[in-house]
Amino acid sequence: MLIFIKDSQDRGRSIGVMIRVWLTALIVFALCACAVTTERASLTAEPSPAERGRTFATRICAECHAVADGEPASPNFSATPFETIANTPGMTRIALNAWLHTGHPTMPNVQVDQDETDDLWAYLLTLRD
Ligand code: HEC
Repeated sequence: MLIFIKDSQDRGRSIGVMIRVWLTALIVFALCACAVTTERASLTAEPSPAERGRTFATRICAECHAVADGEPASPNFSATPFETIANTPGMTRIALNAWLHTGHPTMPNVQVDQDETDDLWAYLLTLRD
């Protein structure tokens, strides 16, 4: 009788241990799944407008303008650095758009569409002091 009780207590305890092991495994698995999902999400995440703007500026405008944050001088000395443009009082998205769509003798017709202007503007805002 005594042996039987001890036996069933043991069995009860070992079932408890099994449940705990399973629960731990389940939690670990859930955490891993979360981590993988988050990582995958950040890998496929679309670049932000400011990131697209920076890429565009680096590709198209950097030939003449200093486009990076803190870059002091432009390759073309008469082209204002983007940081200065960003901090020019009165410079707005509309002003930028107007500048980009009115031909300028010293700035050969750079084709920039509305989406690209939005992205450039988002990037310029990151350069504001
Ligand atoms: C081939 C050279 C060249 C390229 C490429 C170029 N620019 Fe310029 N940009 C200039 C020059 C030179 C000036 C100064 C013109 C002036 O003030 O008469 C200028 C002026 C500007 C200004 C006005 C700055 C101010 O002083 O207020 C803006 C805004 C501007 N550029 C934006 C851009 C953007 C955005 C791009 C890329 C899409 C770009 N530029 C590409 C040469 C260039």
